[in-house]
Amino acid sequence: MKVLLTGSAGQLGQALIASVPQGVELIATTRRDLDLADDKACRDAVRSHRPDWVLNAGAYTAVDQAESQPELAHAVNALAPQAFAESLRSEGGHLFQISTDFVFNGSQGFPYQPDQERNPLGVYGYTKAAGEAAVQEFLGDEERSFILRTSWVISPVGKNFVRTMLRLHREKTQFGVVADQVGCTSSTLNLAQACWRAMELAGQKSLPTVMHWSDAGAASWYDVAVSVGRMGLELGLLDSAAAVQPIVTSAYPTKAQRPTYSLLDCASTREALDLEAEHWQQALWNVLKRLQNAAQSHCG
Ligand SMILES: NC(=O)c1ccc[n+]([C@@H]2O[C@H](COP(=O)([O-])OP(=O)(O)OC[C@H]3O[C@@H](n4cnc5c(N)ncnc54)[C@H](OP(=O)(O)O)[C@@H]3O)[C@@H](O)[C@H]2O)c1
Repeated sequence: MKVLLTGSAGQLGQALIASVPQGVELIATTRRDLDLADDKACRDAVRSHRPDWVLNAGAYTAVDQAESQPELAHAVNALAPQAFAESLRSEGGHLFQISTDFVFNGSQGFPYQPDQERNPLGVYGYTKAAGEAAVQEFLGDEERSFILRTSWVISPVGKNFVRTMLRLHREKTQFGVVADQVGCTSSTLNLAQACWRAMELAGQKSLPTVMHWSDAGAASWYDVAVSVGRMGLELGLLDSAAAVQPIVTSAYPTKAQRPTYSLLDCASTREALDLEAEHWQQALWNVLKRLQNAAQSHCG
């Protein structure tokens, strides 16, 4: 199975590379090899590599910055998946599109089902929703394309909330974190496994064409920040943990509005992929454990 991966240098991209299954011929691309803002380059990549799958993990993910760069965000998040879908339709091959809880506005107050209507809040969410719609329009039939939505991605590498919290715990004695936004983390260690499993199973049985994947349970950003401090201490990643204060969203204004409750109901996806749920605290522990191992091997 030949897989053309985008966003290889990202959090998920790196986890996908680290867990590539046997029998997969991986063409891992970064921004340097394949600019997702260039739809012609996306079409050319499909034509020249003729992959069985495009695994589109690359995206414009700077949620606040997207508010002032809507064209670029649209090109990367909507026009690139459209270009992949259109060219795979004529060349043959499947598309695995990674998407986000931000396609929902977060106001319903209970977990989102995969078949619910998209209703995003900001530019990032709109562009990712447009990408989903294009994938469904141009490659939606015969299970040629799959959309997997995820949320609050965390990883031992890259720019993410866990690494930011570790830094804040080191630098400060106290800080505030938003406690009125609820969702769930998605460790790339688990998310990558779900992606590979889905692509492997797609050739063997019918799968839902829209899937949801996150770790299990529910948390606020505040809960995650407190847990990073406690676990960071236990693992020796921190000498001391700061006091974290719960704050309301309005006390931490951002350019882009975020969904207040963006839990994804992952039950049908877990069942289809036959994968166990891992509680977010265990998933967080595993991410921090990777950071501990990396720190120890760096010292050694
Ligand atoms: N991060 C989250 O919390 C989150 C939540 C829900 C869903 N998702 C989705 O999950 C997927 C993976 O996200 P992630 O967390 O791994 O994001 P990430 O760490 O920001 O990685 C995204 C990758 O896309 C690449 N990229 C951006 N613009 C590009 C362009 N014009 N051409 C080529 N590559 C480009 C980036 O390249 P550079 O390294 O060169 O910048 C980066 O390597 C995305 O579809 C995202 O929308 C993420």
